Amino acid sequence: MRRFLIVALLSSSATTACNEVSRADPSNASQVASGRAIYAANCASCHGANLEGQPDWKSRKPNGRMPAPPHDDTGHTWHHADDILFGITKRGMQPPYAPANYQSDMPGFGGTLTDEQIWDVLAYIKSRWSLHARDAQAQIQKQRGSS
Ligand code: HEC
Repeated sequence: MRRFLIVALLSSSATTACNEVSRADPSNASQVASGRAIYAANCASCHGANLEGQPDWKSRKPNGRMPAPPHDDTGHTWHHADDILFGITKRGMQPPYAPANYQSDMPGFGGTLTDEQIWDVLAYIKSRWSLHARDAQAQIQKQRGSS
């Protein structure tokens, strides 16, 4: 808890560099707190209570599907702009996020979570990134020009 508050405070310096504040704002403590609970209830079972992902997450499972990747700095969640993270969480791994008929264990949460709850959980995930990862993702976001 203490660590998460410190991270939330530190993040305000990273986001002031951007002109527009993302809808998933890791410096917004109440959004992050809401997202933390949503993450624990909906995402932790696969992506790990500590965002560490499933063991050996880079190797395809025997059934041909990929394991759940970490959402912390060691994964590649922070390589994607906000709207892509939002779309994957809402719709799952389907076009345009994956090839047609791609088989994945990642469920779409559009029927379970509201858009606001999805932004909250993304704010929580971002709050767990290092400032380096957060800055890099903010640049990717900026180049894409939307959120
Ligand atoms: C039943 C297991 C499961 C649950 C629950 C789950 N995921 Fe996933 N998720 C996956 C798997 C598996 C992948 C990898 C997809 C693939 O390549 O097939 C993934 C991928 C992702 C990605 C893409 C990451 C990247 O770097 O490309 C995002 C974003 C994501 N999940 C967010 C979430 C969020 C947010 C939640 C909770 C609201 C959640 N997931 C719950 C299994 C799960």
